Amino acid sequence: MSEVGSRDQFGSRIGFILASAGSAVGLGNIWRFPFVAGENGGAAFVFIYLLLVFSIGMPVMLAEFVVGRRGQGDPVGSLRRVVGKAFTPLGGMGILASIIILSFYAVVGGWTIKYTLDAVMGSLGTDVASAGAVFGTFISNPMSVVFYQALFMLGTYVVVARGIGDGIEKFCTIFMPILFLLLIILAIRSVTLPGAAEGLAFYLKPDFSKVNGAMILAALGQAFFSLSIGIGVMLTYGSYLKKSEPIVSPAFQICFLDSFVAFIAGLVIFPAVFAFGFEPGAGPGLTFVTLPAVFTKMPGGSLFAILFFFLLVIASLTSSMSLLEVISAYFVDERKWSRRKATLVVACFTFLLGIPSALSLGGGLNIAGKSFLDAMDFIASNVIMPLGGMGFALLAGWVIHSMAKEELSGSDGKPLAIYPAWRVICCVVAPAAIGWIFVTGLKW
Ligand code: PFF
Repeated sequence: MSEVGSRDQFGSRIGFILASAGSAVGLGNIWRFPFVAGENGGAAFVFIYLLLVFSIGMPVMLAEFVVGRRGQGDPVGSLRRVVGKAFTPLGGMGILASIIILSFYAVVGGWTIKYTLDAVMGSLGTDVASAGAVFGTFISNPMSVVFYQALFMLGTYVVVARGIGDGIEKFCTIFMPILFLLLIILAIRSVTLPGAAEGLAFYLKPDFSKVNGAMILAALGQAFFSLSIGIGVMLTYGSYLKKSEPIVSPAFQICFLDSFVAFIAGLVIFPAVFAFGFEPGAGPGLTFVTLPAVFTKMPGGSLFAILFFFLLVIASLTSSMSLLEVISAYFVDERKWSRRKATLVVACFTFLLGIPSALSLGGGLNIAGKSFLDAMDFIASNVIMPLGGMGFALLAGWVIHSMAKEELSGSDGKPLAIYPAWRVICCVVAPAAIGWIFVTGLKW
């Protein structure tokens, strides 16, 4: 447990990588990526997505690591120390986005706990109609949705309150390998089902006619959300690194693990959906209505259902921890609160803020035609994250480039080979791409 004034650190490099990959790998990979890819041109989307992850996402992640490792504090404090007070609003914006995301993330996280328990009890529904009825009844019952939301937030709190090394790192070091193993088991099950090929074709058949501004924005928004970048989460994790720890190879490994999980999640979902003749519905319905019905048709399906929803619980918990960590770090570092107090207050506050999202899908709580939850998701993922990413890229490329050059140097003091490309991307490519995609593709 960290005391005020003495900062926690990651105990090992692999712990840092698994914790950051834990933040990145979440509902966004397993719940969101497959249907966004399926809807937006299959392999064409996957291709553009990967391009954006490695050409824009990874440089922005590095920019955050540079500021965090150098600043050794929360986003606001690190930015103040590294560049000056004028840049602290970028950190403040990230903390605000983290609050918004955590508020609705815990709602869906709660659903995953409920579904894991239902899978254990064997009460997920036997076809799309009954599974749809189970889901509909659940999300329109305020008591139970809020109960599971609270349970999920409690789980997040318990781990984060224990600190970086004893809490987040330990949890991720144990559970991330389990997550990878479960995912591989499920993918093997799914692609070996008779009739799986049709699902593979749906998921991966490239449709380049779908490539347009809106699709590229969807890919960029998805990449930022999935990599947890643009809002200071990676900055904060980087701030718990010793100055001697490398950041370039971990950034690559985190981006690789994240894309790998997203890609494999599609191999779990679509072959199984098509093998049993279901329609690949979009949105929450795919995971919480179609898949439960698919599992009931599959040999050994009740076991696979438990494994799948348990995997979702792990993925979402390791992500929500990172969000709670960023917000709490601000209160610990800047306001000198104890970690226990900061995590408790922030967890309670974001829980309350999430209640409108929790109730919005069952009760028609809308903002301009979107459910409250979707509206929060849109504002955070499609607006704040890209803008924050642009801010970090511009900052790293133009304002702190000489410091970044030092940070991106090898032990011999010479800049790493990637430095020139990284700088060009931060100065020009990432801001221009984000700006262009933002202007052409932003649609409510
Ligand atoms: N990357 C997580 C996911 O893909 O589900 C979600 C997330 C976590 C977004 C942390 C942003 C963040 F700061």
